[in-house]
Amino acid sequence: MAEMKVAADVDIKWVEVPEAQDIWEGDIVDAEVEGEQVIIVHHLDGTYAAFQGLCPHQEVLLADGTWDEITCVLACPGHLWEFDMQAGNGINPKGSTLYRYQVEENDGVIRVGIPQDGQTHYLKSYES
Ligand code: FES
Repeated sequence: MAEMKVAADVDIKWVEVPEAQDIWEGDIVDAEVEGEQVIIVHHLDGTYAAFQGLCPHQEVLLADGTWDEITCVLACPGHLWEFDMQAGNGINPKGSTLYRYQVEENDGVIRVGIPQDGQTHYLKSYES
């Protein structure tokens, strides 16, 4: 499984994401944040999560996939890989993982935390 760790001493830049403002519970939205493609999920329980917006397989835009807000499963439109959007883990195949960003909400304003480590935060899977 690919994994990208961010060192504890790396600064986080909190960036407002207007595209995510006021998205309904159970909805997803994609946005480019500081040059990185991010998908933001507003879960039915009111919490938020933010992950890499491009599929680990072949960099297809995940937000164009098939989304089930009840099961919290997103199927990539490319080759139907499925992801649990609570944790960002691959369901099928299991070996893939989405990079997870920190995210915060305050009065409907969503901010995503972009680590200032000079890297693009994208996990690639080499499974076929
Ligand atoms: S590009 Fe997403 S499953 Fe292939």
